[in-house]
Amino acid sequence: MQRLAIRDRASLYAQAQQVLPGGVCASARANVALGHPFHVSRGDGAGLFDLQGRRYVDMCTSHGASLLGHNHPAIKAAVQTALDLGILCACETEHQVLLAQRITELVPCAEMARFAGSGTETVMHGLRLARCATGRNRFIKFEGHFHGYADALNFSVMPPLDQAGPAHRPRAYAESAGMPPRAGDDVIVVPFNDVPALEAAFAEHGHTVAALLMEPVNYDQGCIMPMPGFAQRCRALCDEHGALLFFDEVLTAFRVAPGGAQEYLCVTPDLCVLGKAFGAGMPISALVGRRAVMQHLKPLGGSQMSGTYLAHLTGVLAAHAALDVYASANFYGRLSGLCDPFYREFQALITRSGVAVRLQALGPRFGLYFGVGSEVTNYRQAALKNHQAENIFIRSCFEHGAYFQPSAHHGFSAAHTPGDLDLVLAAIERGLAAVRAQLGCL
Ligand SMILES: Cc1ncc(COP(=O)(O)O)c(C=O)c1O
Repeated sequence: MQRLAIRDRASLYAQAQQVLPGGVCASARANVALGHPFHVSRGDGAGLFDLQGRRYVDMCTSHGASLLGHNHPAIKAAVQTALDLGILCACETEHQVLLAQRITELVPCAEMARFAGSGTETVMHGLRLARCATGRNRFIKFEGHFHGYADALNFSVMPPLDQAGPAHRPRAYAESAGMPPRAGDDVIVVPFNDVPALEAAFAEHGHTVAALLMEPVNYDQGCIMPMPGFAQRCRALCDEHGALLFFDEVLTAFRVAPGGAQEYLCVTPDLCVLGKAFGAGMPISALVGRRAVMQHLKPLGGSQMSGTYLAHLTGVLAAHAALDVYASANFYGRLSGLCDPFYREFQALITRSGVAVRLQALGPRFGLYFGVGSEVTNYRQAALKNHQAENIFIRSCFEHGAYFQPSAHHGFSAAHTPGDLDLVLAAIERGLAAVRAQLGCL
């Protein structure tokens, strides 16, 4: 393996900027809080190690993908097995069939599955499938929900409030330059947790709506739960109007329950996408759903979903290994055993610090809203959070050995020990003190 001669962060970043746009391989990795990307030399368990070998407790966990932590022996062994089978690529094997069988047993809506590599491509294919299956073009999405970067879907995730349109009837805001100017014509944006607005959208456009696409728990704005009954109302409105209910479970899958948020909320969609924790750090995703819908995929139906790397065995065998761990005795019990004392102490530190910051969590992922005093139930409230305070907090935590990525959601893995989380809590206490020292109580 070739190595660069440099071992210090600043010169690596300088070299990176010469050959990688912005010095990063994904724009989300340009760390606005630190002012530079976090260059890592390796990961192990709950830890990420910088170029000098200093260990940081990882509270990003690969944006939620590494639910088993880094370097998990079962995932490594699975990848090794996939390599030993010949680095098979673009081949059908028994392993994909068995994985699909396991998913249909675990995920309530899953009668069939097709595997891919990333959330972005899979939600994109899911929307195409929904359009094909219903013969309709439009889809409804909630403001603040994220469904990947495809042109058809990258709307109204974090719109600037002065460009987001009226609160009860947001406009479709394109999140990237270069998207086709008319792509937003098919997107109907509705505020999350707003039943009257959703009913109005269905009343006006229902006959043209292929799907209601949603994060069942809006982790991409931190952690915003659907209000009691809201997900059920989504289900009912889809049924009334002949639209598909499409859950994007890229973040919720295997995190909140073995069957994902649909199991947790007791609402079964028609279609859903699994990602992130599904492969526990290896790239694999799945489009799953009712047989009647899935049968519209080619070669049975008309909707195309294919590709050289779909269902790559490294990801497929990693997913098998991850599912084995998730199914092991008391996996979820142990995870929630980590959550309860951590959030209790975190909340106590917030209260003691006097800083106005709202903590919202479900399972091992949480959102922090600096400067927000009451429960956050939709994007417009989340958008009021104080980014300057968040950046001060993240910088200070980093100095004290806890790595938070400046994104809306944070979290820990099953590899985090109570000792790791104690270290994080100590860093959080310093981070809150830094915010208070620089900006007051907000
Ligand atoms: C809910 C949701 N959908 C889709 C995606 C896109 O997934 P990927 O990053 O695997 O393309 C993400 C990624 O953060 C996500 O959180």
